Formats: sequence, structure tokens, C-alpha cells
Amino acid sequence: MTLTERRPLPPDTAAAPGQAEETATDTQASPWAIEAQKLNIQYGDFHAVKNLDLRVPRNRVMAMIGPSGCGKSTALRAFNRMNELIPGARADGKVLFHGQDIYSPGVDPARVRRWIGMVFQKPNPFPKSVYENVAWGARINGYKGDMDELVENSLRQSALWDEVKDKLKDSAYALSGGQQQRLCIARAVALKPEVLLMDEPTSALDPVSTAKIESLLAELKTRYTIVIVTHNMQQAGRVSDRTAFMLLGDLVEEGDTRELFLNPRDERTENYISGRFG
Ligand SMILES: Nc1ncnc2c1ncn2[C@@H]1O[C@H](COP(=O)(O)OP(=O)(O)O)[C@@H](O)[C@H]1O
Ligand SMILES: [Mg+2]
Repeated sequence: MTLTERRPLPPDTAAAPGQAEETATDTQASPWAIEAQKLNIQYGDFHAVKNLDLRVPRNRVMAMIGPSGCGKSTALRAFNRMNELIPGARADGKVLFHGQDIYSPGVDPARVRRWIGMVFQKPNPFPKSVYENVAWGARINGYKGDMDELVENSLRQSALWDEVKDKLKDSAYALSGGQQQRLCIARAVALKPEVLLMDEPTSALDPVSTAKIESLLAELKTRYTIVIVTHNMQQAGRVSDRTAFMLLGDLVEEGDTRELFLNPRDERTENYISGRFG
């Protein structure tokens, strides 16, 4: 498949998610999976994300950290136009994906969200079976391949298959919270996205489930680009390659995770990571 065919935006001739066989790794046109340029998000008069310039490298995990209310979730939602679902939210600036601004006129936000998937803080499976949770999105997008195979692959990629292979017809609600969250990851993965946005995906989970998801991230990044919001600095240190630190709507600094924690360039970063506030 060529890069042009992979281009999800705006031509509608691109392969439907679930039909594309290759993932992001076969298109190396730009080293960046997502590039925010002068991105501003406002809720009414309140300026929640200010002039954000951020490049997210492909096939890496980027952590977004910062005290509660600094704009992490707002910025994350802007990366797949999820903010539009929030009344009063307004975005300007650009978010480039395959070199195209996802906010350009004519771009279908539903399409954007299939290529750039999201996993939320609280596991939110559909009130359906385990199998249907994974199959549903691909089916409504017209997936013509072998659905059993897609479901199994997606569950394997989410490190859940062994635990649920005999419970595929059971309700997703019968799973533990940690399993439900991995099911939500499988559901996102089944659409063959390029990027997975995760907003504090382990903050509602116990330590064992958290550890499973953290080790899963290392696997997932070989196929996808991951942006994870976390208020847990230890988690950012464990799972991410790059870290972006935000404060009051500003990106204070972004860099190699080790470097940022060991040698922060900005005093505000240093104060935050040393626990002086937040
Ligand atoms: N729907 C909304 N309406 C108005 N203000 C909001 C809304 N969502 C978030 N905010 C405000 O925007 C700021 C950033 O919020 P958020 O992105 O959720 O921060 P974080 O994820 O870093 O905790 C906060 O001051 C918050 O109160
Ligand atoms: Mg948040």
C-alpha cells in the first residue's frame, strides 16, 4: 500500500480501518505521528491550552504530565478532535497527521478518531459481549475480513486473549476493571489505528492491572504511537520515551524522558518533579 492510499485525510478512497493490513511502521514519510502547531483550546473565555507546539514521534510512547487542571486531557482530546464533543470547547491552530491538518474543512472527525483512537480513564466497554466489544467498530466500518481472526489478534495484542478466550460470549461487564481496560485497548486496536491516545488509563486500576497495562505499552509501541496522560511521574518514567510537562495550559518543556527527569531545563519542571507542588 502506498503512502497516498494510507492518507486518511481527506480522500475517502483510503482503506477503511480494519481493512488496511499495514500499520504505521510501513509509512516513514515523517518521523512525527502527530504535530500540534500553535494549538489553542478554549472553553468559553477560559484558555485551557495555550499555543501548544508539540511533535509526537512515531512508534514511541509520549507521556504528558503536569498538575491537575493544567490542560493534559484537553490537549489530548484535541489530537483526535474529541474536544468537539464538549459544549463550548473551541480549537484553533493545527494538528498535523500525515502532513494534513485534522481541523481542515472537509475532514471527517469520525475518520480522524478511527485513525487516532482513544482509551479513557475509566474502562468503558459497551454493554455487549467481550467478542462484540472488539468486533463492533470494525463491523460498522464495513470490515470484510475474518472477524474471528481480527477479534483474536486484537485481544492478543492487548494481552487479554488467554484470559478471555473461553468467555468471548460473556458480558464485558463480567470482566475485572483491569480486563475491561485491556478490552477497551483491544477495541481501539481492532480499528487498526496509527495512534492511541490514553488518558490516565490506569488511574482507576489496582497495581497488578496497572503493571499489566504498563508492560503492554512496550509491546503496543512497536505497532502504534502512544500518547499517555498520567499524573503519576513514576509511571511516566517507566513507560515513556519522551515526556511533555504542562503547567497552566502551557507546555513548559518536552524531551527524552530520562533527560527531563534527571536534567530538567526549566525550573518549573524541576520544582514539579521534585514534588514541590502539584
Ligand atoms: N468542559 C469544560 N468546560 C470548562 N472548563 C473545562 C472543561 N474541561 C476542562 N476545563 C478546564 O480546563 C482546564 C484543563 O482541564 P483538563 O484538560 O481536564 O486538565 P488535566 O487533564 O490536566 O487535569 C481546567 O482548568 C479545567 O477546569
Ligand atoms: Mg485530565
